[in-house]
Amino acid sequence: MVEPLTMTTSPQRERAIAEAGFNTFLLSSNDVYIDLLTDSGTNAMSDNQWAGMMLGDEAYAGSRNFEKLENTIRTHYGFRHTIPTHQGRGAEHILSQILIHPGGYVPGNMYFTTTRLHQELAGGTFVDVIIDEAHEPCSEHPFKGNVDLAKLDRVINEVGANNIPYFCLHTTVNMAGGQPVSMENIQATAELCRAHRIPVFLDATRAVENAYFIKRSEAGFENTSIADILLQMCGHADGCTMSGKKDCLVNIGGFLALNDDELAERARNMVVVFEGLHTYGGMAGRDMEAMARGIEESVSYDHIRARIGQVEYLGQLLIDADVPIVRPIGGHGIFVDAKRFLPHIPQNEFPAQALAAALYVDSGVRGMERGAVSAGRDAKTGENRLPRLELLRLTLPRRVYTQAHLDVTAESVIDLWEKRDRIRGLKFTFEPERLRFFQARFAPVGAERVLDDADPVNTQSSSLTDSRESDQAVTH
Ligand code: F0G
Repeated sequence: MVEPLTMTTSPQRERAIAEAGFNTFLLSSNDVYIDLLTDSGTNAMSDNQWAGMMLGDEAYAGSRNFEKLENTIRTHYGFRHTIPTHQGRGAEHILSQILIHPGGYVPGNMYFTTTRLHQELAGGTFVDVIIDEAHEPCSEHPFKGNVDLAKLDRVINEVGANNIPYFCLHTTVNMAGGQPVSMENIQATAELCRAHRIPVFLDATRAVENAYFIKRSEAGFENTSIADILLQMCGHADGCTMSGKKDCLVNIGGFLALNDDELAERARNMVVVFEGLHTYGGMAGRDMEAMARGIEESVSYDHIRARIGQVEYLGQLLIDADVPIVRPIGGHGIFVDAKRFLPHIPQNEFPAQALAAALYVDSGVRGMERGAVSAGRDAKTGENRLPRLELLRLTLPRRVYTQAHLDVTAESVIDLWEKRDRIRGLKFTFEPERLRFFQARFAPVGAERVLDDADPVNTQSSSLTDSRESDQAVTH
């Protein structure tokens, strides 16, 4: 199936971004040329998955598609019980509600926006115990998602294991730039937690991508299949939350999977309140069939190599042009280092948000901010969090775009890099209380910091080259 792409002009895009409050989440997709907002739910499904959609058993209870999904998850993720949810945050909600008590601490390898919010809504406090290198865009550590075991040990000693309902292990780490965790580190983290009777839950949203990095870069796994590595990773954990909209190659769906019978019962009881019956949890039968088939396809080496190969292709074009990006190149996208790209914009004027808006105006390519806006305010003090990483994410949907689209994207980023002085910062005009990055609105700050007032990229035209207008369609 193909979907036509919309060509727009510079004046149209200037109007569109202003109407969207300089937030790429508020753009209409009709106004977007190449959509790198997210890899979430934007995957193209295969012929086999679409065929499966015709075999949906839409029974309210006991759908055969659920049985297939549960078996597939047992085969590839290894967990006995599956609680289906409408998407990943549904699983995070249930896990947080059944495990976290008010006053508890949840350590993890860097925060994720929805995960942390659900931990906080359940009365918990997230504690970051990722290695320091993860916060350094230039560090070439091959497993920047690794847990710092000394930090974790310190947290356990300080707050007491009884106050740690579970450890949240992201594989890969989205906010660090899609950085993986090594098998050795997964095992060591699990052993430390087990010694203190702390359950380990993976955020397995991009665990297949993590498995690919282990195969590629960790000694001893060169000849192990992606499927076996995935199973081994999960073998160290007590369960996982999953946004099926990423690795599972579907457009909607998620699950909580776990081994403990009693905990599974509690999760099943919770899912009927918030999602749906425990045999569909917010998904149609056909969605569960597509997800089961997507999981089987996702562990193919050829698939995951091609997927991450695309990300690397785009990243290498930018590296070759000296554009500052997070290194090494991660699993699901390229993360442009907005602090180095726009050193003239202070972090409280949201350089990554400004860069996302400017890129859209330049070429119609839609990325998203992963920096101070995403980090939000501290739950206790109400102050803005200012993370070390201030990034523009260019996220690649799976099996959607061609190399030509990546060339156009790189060309536009490089073009902006050359006129970066003209980009100006942003200030809030509307700030939602929760997960503010989705719905916030901004306006450019005054002209005082604009070096070349004649053509500020956020507000005035910047012409498209012919090559950017050359592609017609995209598989979807
Ligand atoms: N965990 C991780 C690591 C994620 O990246 C996401 C979603 C979720 C959990 C929540 O899953 O969206 O299905 O409810 N990430 C998307 C993104 C939104 O664009 O990175 P969800």
